[in-house]
Amino acid sequence: MKTYKIAAIPGDGIGTEVINAGIEVLQAIATREGNIKFDVDHFDWGGEYYKKHGRMMPENGRDQIRNHDAILFGSAGHPEIPDHITLWGLRLAICQPFDQYANVRPTRILPGITSPLRNVTDKELNWIIVRENSEGEYAGVGGRVHQGSPLEAATDVAMFTRAGVERIMRFAFALARSRPRKLLTVVTKSNAQRHAMVMWDDIAKEIALEFPDVTWDKMLVDAMTMRMVMRPETLDTIVATNLHADILSDLAAALAGSLGIAPTGNINPERTFPSMFEPIHGSAFDITGKGIANPVGTFWSTVMMLDHLGEKGAAARLMKAIECVTADPKLHTPDLGGKARTADTTKAVIQKIHGANE
Ligand code: IPM
Ligand code: MG
Repeated sequence: MKTYKIAAIPGDGIGTEVINAGIEVLQAIATREGNIKFDVDHFDWGGEYYKKHGRMMPENGRDQIRNHDAILFGSAGHPEIPDHITLWGLRLAICQPFDQYANVRPTRILPGITSPLRNVTDKELNWIIVRENSEGEYAGVGGRVHQGSPLEAATDVAMFTRAGVERIMRFAFALARSRPRKLLTVVTKSNAQRHAMVMWDDIAKEIALEFPDVTWDKMLVDAMTMRMVMRPETLDTIVATNLHADILSDLAAALAGSLGIAPTGNINPERTFPSMFEPIHGSAFDITGKGIANPVGTFWSTVMMLDHLGEKGAAARLMKAIECVTADPKLHTPDLGGKARTADTTKAVIQKIHGANE
């Protein structure tokens, strides 16, 4: 019996609802597989914790989760706390020190889900976006002076290091190579941003030499949004900076039918630290407590977690169960135009896990 230690950080808003659903599904997978077990520790960090303690997680928070095999994260954000505090106090406070520099965002049109793009199915839209997750526009470099005076000034400096760009580029080329089409698109804005983005292009060219079997091309980020909409079938693996990929991945999620199904993995490829898996939808306070949050983004993130843990069979089984459930519109939550509740979708996935044969 292999036991994995999972740290669950549901966070705020619908985070708790989807993470509870995710853990139910995870335990169902363990029962079905028979030879794996998940010990889940819960951490009540986030906005409510902040209101009591003045910080998003305890000072030794990272030490409490450093030795877990993986982290399952819900969402952090609170209507009464500025977004930059909730972001930097929890998610980035884990991602950056744990060097989860590769943020991986698969996008695909699941069975039963309709893209807002006409006649587009998973044959045309099956992408994986690799987001640089440790520096760039999210480096945190900058300052604000003379606050409130007419002379007020502020900077947010995007900082790119050769080491940082080389490692994300290598990761993206390797991921592209592992996929059937072996196709990578490198996104920048190297016409207007003439320093770091040009370095990014140069490094792409260098790393490409290590991957002669991968076909690659370059896109400027503005033109990339058009290509995603107009010619989705020409894309496969995509690599972009922290901010560019943040924006492109919301577009990708919308084109795939709903932000509610989109998963992500914050990966530390060297495995020095645990990696963290989360749905990308955020806290969604407008629907919090109603029991209608779409748990599919969390389930798919759980698939990525199982994959990362090396449990390929369990990952494939869970993905198949998810796809059986999305294929049935009666099991769609309201974000997909359906009437199902979180609990209905969750129960159906668990039934498929137990029912589905090899
Ligand atoms: C994402 C989110 C976050 C980000 C927000 C919540 C700060 O949009 O994961 O894409 O920008 O990184
Ligand atoms: Mg985003």
